[in-house]
Amino acid sequence: MKLSVVILSLASLVFAASLRTFEQQPLPAAQSGFDLDLNALRLIQLEGRAPEWVTEGRKIELKALGFKFFDITENQDLGNGIQSPTRVKSSFPSPNATEKVTPILKTLSTQGPKENLEKFTSFRTRYYRSDTGRASQKWLLSKISEITNGTASASLQKLITFREFRHSWGQNSIIVRIQGSSTSDDAVVIIGAHQDSTNLWPFLPAPGADDDGSGSVTILEAYRALLAADYRPVRTLEFHWYSAEGGLLGSQAVAQDYAANSVNVIAMSQFDMTAWVKRGTREEAGIIIDYVDPDLTKFNMELVDLYMDIPFVQTQCGYACSDHASWRKAGYPSTFTIESSFENSNKNIHSANDRIDISDEFSFEHMLEFSKLAVAFAVELGGYTD
Ligand SMILES: *[C@@H]1O[C@H](CO)[C@@H](O)[C@H](O)[C@H]1NC(C)=O
Ligand SMILES: *[C@@H]1O[C@H](CO)[C@@H](O)[C@H](O)[C@H]1NC(C)=O
Ligand SMILES: [Zn+2]
Repeated sequence: MKLSVVILSLASLVFAASLRTFEQQPLPAAQSGFDLDLNALRLIQLEGRAPEWVTEGRKIELKALGFKFFDITENQDLGNGIQSPTRVKSSFPSPNATEKVTPILKTLSTQGPKENLEKFTSFRTRYYRSDTGRASQKWLLSKISEITNGTASASLQKLITFREFRHSWGQNSIIVRIQGSSTSDDAVVIIGAHQDSTNLWPFLPAPGADDDGSGSVTILEAYRALLAADYRPVRTLEFHWYSAEGGLLGSQAVAQDYAANSVNVIAMSQFDMTAWVKRGTREEAGIIIDYVDPDLTKFNMELVDLYMDIPFVQTQCGYACSDHASWRKAGYPSTFTIESSFENSNKNIHSANDRIDISDEFSFEHMLEFSKLAVAFAVELGGYTD
């Protein structure tokens, strides 16, 4: 019997005990405003195990116990029947567009991220099955629209589309697309973050400042700076803000849609938690090296060396730990960069303490380094049209 199975069995017992505690408690008043049925059945997939049906309540509990899994209820064929078409695998030559990238990096600012994150964390929770999670998504969409309208030239705006990718729950994913100029290269480059937040117990407040408000505003600032530079990619460039990180529901749905439509995604870069510098540690960028594409990850390390003002550290975060995993499952190359080594990352996440003002370890300057990485990823892989 594998150790993980033993742990899982033990966890199930702990889980059963604590679920009883949940059931005996009067349900919090905040339950109005949520569309969450704790008895609904979900199909989850833990690493190395056959998919299993559990209740939503049990799923929440397993997550609280630290288990990582895909919720595949709505995407059972992803990675099996549905997979990206086999193409010639992209190679990632060393980055060399410094002349184009560096001037854009100089225009990045902490001002937008500060304002945007203050607003984004003011929603009681951005839980994907809550009314406030729907409202925060609507706000994000309007902010993207405002930035696009206020920053991009009229001719650049003609190349940009944004849309809500609809899900069966309340909060939708958001997809912004800058059409590439190439008529022969159908490759797509994706930069992503998840917009939702959750408390361990979903009905409680979840400001989600770091997880993943930070990644959401980090890539939004990169997007703003690219538009301000009148950047026009050769390959199509997309920015994604996923709904429902818990079980990776939103990103699986989007990745499945892309795979089913044979979209030629050559690279996906995930930003999940970009703000925290643990006291007493060296400021660095964590490059995740497990469950990622090794070639794209090596390229990502080269980008850090070339464009960020802090070094990287290699680290691991386990199975299905963020949305890049959905793209990998769909057969696409993906990479994931986080605020530090996994061990030194913010321990306030999934609680009411995941706030901007909880500690001076929460740093907008640190976050800005990750906007640099997102800009570099876009220009180096998307190419540029003069
Ligand atoms: C960068 O490298 C690519 C791929 O090797 C090459 O096609 C391109 O001309 C190079 N660009 C510059 C500015 O050196
Ligand atoms: C863009 O901004 C202008 C001026 O503020 C406004 O009139 C217009 O409706 C906006 N367009 C979009 C698509 O939001
Ligand atoms: Zn996250």
